[in-house]
Amino acid sequence: MPLAPTADDVLAGHDLTGHHALVTGGTGGIGAETAKALARAGADVLITGRDPVKGAAAAASMGVAFARLDLADPDSIAAFAVPRPVTMLILNAGLLTNALVRTKAGFEPHFGVNHLGHFALAARVPLREARVVVLSSRAHRRADIDFDDPDWRSRAYDPWRAYGQSKTANALFALEFDRRTEHTATAVLPGLVLTDIVRDLTPAQLSAQGWDGRGPGWRTAAQAAASTVWAAVTPGLGGRIVADCAPTEPWPTGHDLPDGHHAAYAADPERAARLWELSERLLPDRAR
Ligand SMILES: NC(=O)c1ccc[n+]([C@@H]2O[C@H](COP(=O)([O-])OP(=O)(O)OC[C@H]3O[C@@H](n4cnc5c(N)ncnc54)[C@H](OP(=O)(O)O)[C@@H]3O)[C@@H](O)[C@H]2O)c1
Repeated sequence: MPLAPTADDVLAGHDLTGHHALVTGGTGGIGAETAKALARAGADVLITGRDPVKGAAAAASMGVAFARLDLADPDSIAAFAVPRPVTMLILNAGLLTNALVRTKAGFEPHFGVNHLGHFALAARVPLREARVVVLSSRAHRRADIDFDDPDWRSRAYDPWRAYGQSKTANALFALEFDRRTEHTATAVLPGLVLTDIVRDLTPAQLSAQGWDGRGPGWRTAAQAAASTVWAAVTPGLGGRIVADCAPTEPWPTGHDLPDGHHAAYAADPERAARLWELSERLLPDRAR
């Protein structure tokens, strides 16, 4: 295996014939590379995105199917249907924005889309002996869940902390999903890639974060997708947080987080259960 394998490298030798994979946000970036690699390995793949024209073109170029899904819109989630039970559910879609423009359901965009959108979706998708992979991020180190104000109602808005909180929520969701269901759920820290996720940020905001796409920490989207597909095909990863195709270990806080680690709060069972209950209260119409 190369030092920084791609998703295709990880899946070499795997035959995923008979698997039905759903990749949210598969129209570009890490999700597209994940979908392509799963399809090349034989899986039947359905990708989602908001724009039907962009989505259909992306799907056609990859030889996969496309369905429209806007995770900011409860009606879109309620209308979403899959043709057959899913055996690999890749909750990959995500946004990074700098403006507090609330979703159609009235939520802060990162918490509303990255976490609550997927929380609602996962309740609707029929699963069969499934692997569920949830895209978190090393950015989870920026923020634990603020249970007093998870939806940014009473504190000054900080988009980077809001993104970080949503990525902590993604990790906690995977942990609790794994505990509550008969399926196997894993969170992934894919690593840094300069994708369209930065579309809302100004060049000044990007350079203030050191986001230039160059240097040793950066990878290609195909390399970032490696951990996702690794989590989808490797046994024994239920409730774990994966980075660089290996389980990570807890670190006491989010500060100075070393590679190969996650902040302990992102894998805390008590917080995971509390977030699940909070999410259910915020989404009373959630189907399951
Ligand atoms: N890039 C990084 O460095 C990095 C690092 C760590 C973690 N991650 C995580 O990896 C995941 C993929 O990121 P990426 O960098 O590949 O981003 P990307 O290139 O911007 O792709 C994001 C995908 O999500 C979809 N999406 C965005 N908003 C959506 C919404 N409201 N409803 C439904 N789908 C929506 C987009 O589809 P449409 O535009 O077609 O709707 C797109 O296919 C995210 O969860 C991100 O947080 C990324």
